[in-house]
Amino acid sequence: MLRRLFVALGILATAVALFPGAQPEEGDVRHLYPTTLLALGLDTDAHTLPYLLGFLENIDYPKKQISLEIYVHSKEDTTQQQVGWWLDSAREYFRRVKLVADSTNWLEDALRSARVQKISRCFLLPGDTVPKAPNILQMLFREPSHLVVTPLFQSVDGSLNVEEASERVQKRENVREQVLKKVWLPLAINLTAIDSSYLTFDAQNLPHYEAADEPLEVFANSAERMDIPIYVDNQDDYGFFVNPELDLEDRRTMFRYQLADVIADGNPLPIVSRSVRPWLPEPSLWDTQKIYVINLKRRPERLQKMEKIFELLGVEATVWEATDGNYLDSLPSPHKSHATLPSYRDPIMNRPIKAGEIGCFLSHYRIWEDVVKEGLDRVIVFEDDLRFAPNGLQRVREVLADLDATGKPWDLIYLGRKKQADQEELWVSGHRHLSTVGYSYWTLGYLLSKSGAEKLLAAKPLQKIVPVDEFLPIMFDRHPNQDWKEQFQKRDLDAFTLYPLSVSPQRYTHENGYVSDTENSSILQPLVPSKGKTEL
Ligand SMILES: *[C@@H]1O[C@H](CO)[C@@H](O)[C@H](O)[C@H]1NC(C)=O
Ligand SMILES: *[C@@H]1O[C@H](CO)[C@@H](O)[C@H](O)[C@H]1NC(C)=O
Repeated sequence: MLRRLFVALGILATAVALFPGAQPEEGDVRHLYPTTLLALGLDTDAHTLPYLLGFLENIDYPKKQISLEIYVHSKEDTTQQQVGWWLDSAREYFRRVKLVADSTNWLEDALRSARVQKISRCFLLPGDTVPKAPNILQMLFREPSHLVVTPLFQSVDGSLNVEEASERVQKRENVREQVLKKVWLPLAINLTAIDSSYLTFDAQNLPHYEAADEPLEVFANSAERMDIPIYVDNQDDYGFFVNPELDLEDRRTMFRYQLADVIADGNPLPIVSRSVRPWLPEPSLWDTQKIYVINLKRRPERLQKMEKIFELLGVEATVWEATDGNYLDSLPSPHKSHATLPSYRDPIMNRPIKAGEIGCFLSHYRIWEDVVKEGLDRVIVFEDDLRFAPNGLQRVREVLADLDATGKPWDLIYLGRKKQADQEELWVSGHRHLSTVGYSYWTLGYLLSKSGAEKLLAAKPLQKIVPVDEFLPIMFDRHPNQDWKEQFQKRDLDAFTLYPLSVSPQRYTHENGYVSDTENSSILQPLVPSKGKTEL
């Protein structure tokens, strides 16, 4: 109740400022912007609502040319009330606004309403589809345009709102050419074209119609009767949609993963409404005792991105300041007196270890020390340039639940990695996501137990540092380099990997915008420990 009250107050307080800078249009631009009916069909879409309303607040089209109709089917949550309040404050900016709560066929009702109002264009937008392009109306109705088009939207699990979209359409090699066999939402319809008057979503309007009484099928049939082709339009990255086949809880979760992915890509989030704010989950440790996120102090922008991602996904992370490879000389003891493995050469570049790699090693090493010192049973270690796979955190929780159930001992579980050799990896029976693991690279994210941290420290790696992602495979004895392996006597780390993985890099090395502080640091000549400083 209190929460509702807050929302109400929030609306009152911000109603005035809902459309900042909104001013009467200068001059007569109406011929450039035909009147458009924008109908939004909301079901149980409270999770997308703040973004849908944000889109409407910021739409790049004269609002006086838009007649806005919001159809709400949902009886649950406060959607109807929120939309009502919002529409009241939006009323003066649009040509017309209307809230409809009792429609049985919102698509037909919107289409009919547009015809009654003699409106030129109609855009039908379902609530699971969030446009991020404020100029979508201009794009869709750009001349020469088709009578009916469906803009393409993508979801985080890779599915598309237009399931039949061709490969070329997905890759945007073919932008407005594919004719669709079925009808998908959203739909943009040019009502000025005479033929459009036969289009309908209502079977009653179609003589001798015998197929399913389903609005989109009826529409497909009416278009077919008039030989009106329906095209898919992907001129722009219009935004994303949440796969409606998922149940409500999963749609809400997936939507947040989707937003997190937008951040990981370095793109701005869709704009949030000024008055209806999104719900965020409580920060959680995901059944561990601590979640570290390693960040170099001179890379605050990376941390900011990760913090936004964590906020959306509900991760209670502790920032762990990375050891900077540029300042290894000024490290406090005991970390100052480290040495690298003399025989180490980078297997791919054939060069000695880099300062950044040592800094990275020490960052992880200090966490292992912290785990033991604090007596933590299990933790997660994240680096700060990762993206989450859909439901990646749920898999972490499930893998831990399975381990608790079977009592299987474990030290380290990769949450993200790059498989580095064609070694056999086997499912662990009785576990949903657990597999044995072969030689792997990366330390983007892993689960670590106290016994794991103890074993890693017991190997005394500070006197023979190799990059941390070489060290781990040595320690679970799947490293192919015999010589390096032999430098470490006990290699009994119980390591596993998750299938599928929970995290992957934000960018791969060959991609634009890839920045690596380890790759970019200077190459060090192998250091030999100085006498009298060797004990840790
Ligand atoms: C809409 O249809 C009218 C009449 O056929 C046509 O002149 C116009 O170019 C079309 N406009 C758009 C944006 O589709
Ligand atoms: C290395 O540093 C340069 C200069 O700061 C930067 O332009 C480049 O993107 C960096 N490369 C990588 C791989 O980080």
